[in-house]
Amino acid sequence: MKLTVVGGGSTYTPELVDGFARLRDTLPLDELVLVDPATDRLDLVAGLARRIFARQGHPGRIRTTADLDAAVDGADAVLLQLRVGGQAAREQDETWPLECGCVGQETTGAGGLAKALRTVPVVLDIAERVRRRAPGAWIIDFTNPVGIVTRALLQAGHRAVGLCNVAIGFQRRFAALLGVAPADLHLNHVGLNHLTWETGVRLAGPEGDDVLPKLLTDHGDEIAAALRLPRPLLDHLGAIPSYYLRYYYAHDEVVRELRTKPSRAAEVARMEKELLTLYADPALDEKPALLARRGGAYYSEAAVDLAAALLGAAASPYQVVNTYNRGTLPFLPDDAVIEVQAAVGQKGATPLAVGPVNPLFTGLTANVTAYEHLALEAALHGGRDRVLTALLAHPLIGQYEYADALTDRLIAHNREHLAWA
Ligand code: G6P
Ligand code: MN
Repeated sequence: MKLTVVGGGSTYTPELVDGFARLRDTLPLDELVLVDPATDRLDLVAGLARRIFARQGHPGRIRTTADLDAAVDGADAVLLQLRVGGQAAREQDETWPLECGCVGQETTGAGGLAKALRTVPVVLDIAERVRRRAPGAWIIDFTNPVGIVTRALLQAGHRAVGLCNVAIGFQRRFAALLGVAPADLHLNHVGLNHLTWETGVRLAGPEGDDVLPKLLTDHGDEIAAALRLPRPLLDHLGAIPSYYLRYYYAHDEVVRELRTKPSRAAEVARMEKELLTLYADPALDEKPALLARRGGAYYSEAAVDLAAALLGAAASPYQVVNTYNRGTLPFLPDDAVIEVQAAVGQKGATPLAVGPVNPLFTGLTANVTAYEHLALEAALHGGRDRVLTALLAHPLIGQYEYADALTDRLIAHNREHLAWA
């Protein structure tokens, strides 16, 4: 089995490789190819990756290249974890929206739109090369904004599934709080990528007892504190929102905070420097503890499960993924990309039925779905008007004065990445 990681020089890669090594019975890889244009980073990361494989006795070969076509040639699965413009572009996304009093974040709001505009054309180009060099390969997209990027891939007819670690993170945390094995917890996870609610927490499968009320009663304070949201909000929702919903439920508070501290991009850039120094040490042969301070906890386990299921190897039957709605959430168009539990197999992902959804969640979900559709239109066809339209449709922006000003800022800060600007 051959798997290619695009953006293989990312400092996240050792997280992934650690998962591949530990879970090699679930996903038996013969060849792992790391492809990245930044060859210096790639060499450092690959050095550690090989030492991780060696330490854990993984027999697979790890290859590196800067040549994308060669990297994807004959691959069974291609994992996308690239970041167009790197942390420098992210820093911009997190900064200029604040000038208009709007949240500065890499996937939410105007910054998220900027990232979508930079990323969609690059990902579609990669996917076309995959189609030519590895027809039939599965594309697993971890590249943000995952909902919009996955929709772009599916719309262009690619075999793609979108992946995020929010659900697996909750599953692991709730399991620890409840004292059960993670595999015994099934989340009713509903919404769009980075806009989800856990509306049920079931023991042993989709039909199991719902222990969400007990989880909230016994551990609500702890969960609310970790999300940095008020406990009464959780009780009121009767659900556990993803931490990305803090940008909605506490928007102005977040803006005030962001204005007074360094950006996450700056923090991550500092960590990356430190991580690369650690990776360069030939004595290091496991993922360093510092990596846990990045947002991608359990990403590797989710990726292994997903790749294994798509490639027909043994894996958990149900996984939270991003895929076409196709009637699952009846208040959304069929071609919206949603993030829900799905049965995943060699033919792809089929969402499980979701019961009635609280109108408190449906309105916002429908609003953001419309925004994502318009954002994708802007990413595919360009033009100031389309950018403005997407920002007017975003529930965190909406006002013309801000949408207009943010449109100019977005274009000014991203000109080098936008073919049409
Ligand atoms: C979580 C999200 C990812 C996001 C990451 C950011 O893992 O699910 O979509 O990319 O956080 O983490 P970072 O360490 O880069 O801030
Ligand atoms: Mn994510």
